[in-house]
Amino acid sequence: NLQNLLNEEQNKQLSTINLIASENFTSKSVLEPLSSCLSNKYAEGLPGDRLYPGVEICDKIEILAINNLKKLFKLSDEWIINVQPLSGAPANLEMLISLVDIGSTIMMLTHNHGGHMSHGDKGSLIQKIYKVEEYYLSSEGLLDYDDIENQIVKHQPKLIFVGYSLYPRDIDYNKIKLICKAHNVHMHVDMAHIAGFIAAGLLNSPFEHADSVTTTTHKTMRGPRSGVIFSKKSCFHGVFPGIQAGPHMATIASVAQMAFECMQTQFVEYAKQTILNAKNAALIFQQNGLKVQTGGTDCHMIILEVEEGAENLLGKNGIYVNSVHSISGNYGIRLGFACVTSLGVKQEGVVNICHLIMQALNGVDVSSKVKKFTESFQK
Ligand SMILES: Cc1ncc(COP(=O)(O)O)c(C=O)c1O
Repeated sequence: NLQNLLNEEQNKQLSTINLIASENFTSKSVLEPLSSCLSNKYAEGLPGDRLYPGVEICDKIEILAINNLKKLFKLSDEWIINVQPLSGAPANLEMLISLVDIGSTIMMLTHNHGGHMSHGDKGSLIQKIYKVEEYYLSSEGLLDYDDIENQIVKHQPKLIFVGYSLYPRDIDYNKIKLICKAHNVHMHVDMAHIAGFIAAGLLNSPFEHADSVTTTTHKTMRGPRSGVIFSKKSCFHGVFPGIQAGPHMATIASVAQMAFECMQTQFVEYAKQTILNAKNAALIFQQNGLKVQTGGTDCHMIILEVEEGAENLLGKNGIYVNSVHSISGNYGIRLGFACVTSLGVKQEGVVNICHLIMQALNGVDVSSKVKKFTESFQK
């Protein structure tokens, strides 16, 4: 029955090593509002301007989520926030149809280099209703600001997507803004993967330079599965009535709690430890002769060039990573340290995880060692 399956999933999450860079563990207080009475509510519209009666408390909750996010990212009043997008991909589409005429040219980092599919990759709705051009990383896997300018001059996009699914380094938003300003391009930043580190003040903030920003809430901020749009001009008709109707009030309440938790010193400590863990892992892999793309990381994520099939091989041993294309066109894997750090992994744990990975990649069955390692997760 369902309860057994939920128990099984819970057990699995605590008896495997999860290095999926886009996942995390929520606190109990973030999880609780998701199964609250707010799930019963319809509240189409925005606080103070709803299509439904009896939503005074929903208004207060949505305003609390907005205000907490504003404080968290230290935003001035020129920024307005919409917490209704159902997730990161809808947030991107909703922002785009609000701000850029359909049929216009937009630009994304090519998917194989780390641009997210919801920025207009093949098969996405964005790709069908906009003309999508691409820019590329350098052969070292770093942002190539000259290429960004060259592609902008060549294709004259109305908007450029900055912020990626597969990029371990910090971004020079100022440099991109100067290019965008010179060529009259709207600079949009999707900070989904690194929002937690921006919130903690550990990575550059896009808000000083971007015209609009989107994020997911369930990755490094440890929130519920949701999306947020931040914009300097009112642009929310793409959310409602563009694509969505009733907001998910239970999720919005959970986002309010998430933003509150991200403002606590324990969260900053967590974010620092996550980056330290990823940096240490990159070092250990390099010392053992593995190729780490860009030579390291500034965030939770590292990219390793390894033999084809590594995702499967590690998965069989209870270690979860994602297959990716490395910058040289070879097979690679993306490892993220946000989940294991939430479960208490520090320096010694990272050493153990790296050695388990290297043994598994050499064909050794480490599944029982992985189980033993995860015993501390259950406490
Ligand atoms: C940069 C970026 N944007 C958007 C998304 C999409 O988020 P969601 O799965 O919530 O739609 C992702 C997902 O991993 C992402 O990496």
